[in-house]
Amino acid sequence: MITSPLLRGRLGTIGLAITLVLLAVCLWLEGKRLIIKPFPPTYFHDAVADFKYGSIGAETNGFPYEIWQELPTIFRDKIPGGWHDFGFIFEPGRDLPIGLSVRRTAVNRVGFNCATCHTAQIEVAGKPEVILGAPAAQLDLQAYLKFILMVSEDPGLTADAVIESAASNGRPLGWINRQALKWFVMPELKKQAHMLARSFAWMDVKAPHGPGRTDAGNTWRERWGMHPETDTKVGTVDFPSVWNQRARLNGWFHWDGNNNSLSERNYSAALAGGATDWLLDRRKIGEISDWLVELQPPRFPGTLDPGLVTSGRKVYTREKCEICHDPGIGRTGQVTDLDLIGTDPERAALFDDEMVRRFSQVGKGYTWQFKHYRSSHGYANMPLDGIWARAPYLHNGSVPDLASLLDPPADRPGTFYRGCATFDVERVGYACTEGFLFDSAKTGNGNQGHLYGTALSKEDKAALLAYLKSL
Ligand code: HEC
Ligand code: HEC
Repeated sequence: MITSPLLRGRLGTIGLAITLVLLAVCLWLEGKRLIIKPFPPTYFHDAVADFKYGSIGAETNGFPYEIWQELPTIFRDKIPGGWHDFGFIFEPGRDLPIGLSVRRTAVNRVGFNCATCHTAQIEVAGKPEVILGAPAAQLDLQAYLKFILMVSEDPGLTADAVIESAASNGRPLGWINRQALKWFVMPELKKQAHMLARSFAWMDVKAPHGPGRTDAGNTWRERWGMHPETDTKVGTVDFPSVWNQRARLNGWFHWDGNNNSLSERNYSAALAGGATDWLLDRRKIGEISDWLVELQPPRFPGTLDPGLVTSGRKVYTREKCEICHDPGIGRTGQVTDLDLIGTDPERAALFDDEMVRRFSQVGKGYTWQFKHYRSSHGYANMPLDGIWARAPYLHNGSVPDLASLLDPPADRPGTFYRGCATFDVERVGYACTEGFLFDSAKTGNGNQGHLYGTALSKEDKAALLAYLKSL
């Protein structure tokens, strides 16, 4: 018990001072957390949910969530089908599609995750099925990014329009959010849109990517100030499948076999998807990566004739396909030179020594700084697991189905539609009758090369196709 009034007064003042200092520290920490170190992301503690909806640290550069939600209402005339129009896949009861995560970095923002580019929907006999780890054949990433840019610059996108739309959609914004939107978020978005427009200029001088493809090479080149808008280089590739990484642990992968480190392939993908060095969620990416090591390819959804599959395996062995495509033997995981493989050279050519030099600077100052990149002058011999679900084929997605890949290049379709989910189990590929028209005559889109199996008899081709379905 303190009885002296003087001492009690002093202790009171000291107590008050300590409280004030603590308060100031808390406010400072909170301010720092709000602006600099964002709120922790949503973790689902379930590999599948984390893959579909979890964060990889890509939200820092993401679009403000509260505005994002209202875009389909405000721009109904431009995307009548909402986000579905870009090929995003929605599951019941979710307001975000597979492949988008939300996280507060100053304001709530949406960002990409691994499922954005590595999950597809495949529809056989009218039944759509979501396939995790498959190339996102429906997603038109470029069209989505261009839309985001276009609406950001559109005078019709105002704070008032967002506030009104949110209210009409039954999710009214509170007073603080309304003020933040008016005075901070919207003006900042308009400013960023201006900068973004400049960084997208290169897309207009190259062939459009269309659904299922992206040009990560030129995205990096733009970031590094290499002015891709001034040259004809193209690095557009089909999204690859990412399951069964166990079969890819020791080889050289990426389409051109430019990297033999699994973690660097994962990190570079996350960084390309919008993660920043300092927010790269290495723990989460590590967990997803472990899961992808074991994720099994999907089973073929049609019927298989076991006899035909067996004869197909014989053709496959006789034609020496296994030397390049079966894990653990021969040249699988190595690179076949452009001169031999003969497929479109653009993607391999883009990744030259200058790109290697630039990539080896990525992550400077961090323990994970990249050091496994090389220029390869060819394309990687990859395992063919779940190949049926990896259409369209070749690195640039220039051949619509497996049956066409076994035809000589002159007989492969010069143009075809991409982006639908309807699947043809006979020819093994998507069978789209509308959508984005792919044109193999455009730079980087060539459908030539990979002549293996193209000279076989009709019977042998049918057997080989049956075997490929079974992988
Ligand atoms: C914006 C789309 C996009 C996102 C997001 C993305 N990837 Fe990819 N990923 C690609 C593309 C495109 C390639 C092929 C690049 C190339 O070879 O040119 C690729 C290649 C890969 C490869 C190498 C596959 C192979 O067989 O060569 C792995 C592994 C991979 N990604 C894993 C991931 C993981 C893990 C994540 C999340 C941390 C992720 N990706 C996020 C587009 C993406
Ligand atoms: C000398 C090595 C080599 C041989 C032999 C070979 N391939 Fe390939 N294969 C490749 C390379 C390299 C690619 C990737 C080319 C590209 O994308 O530009 C490829 C791509 C493929 C693809 C498409 C993969 C995808 O994801 O799009 C299929 C299917 C395929 N090969 C099947 C076969 C079959 C069947 C045979 C035997 C008749 C065969 N290959 C023989 C090297 C080979």
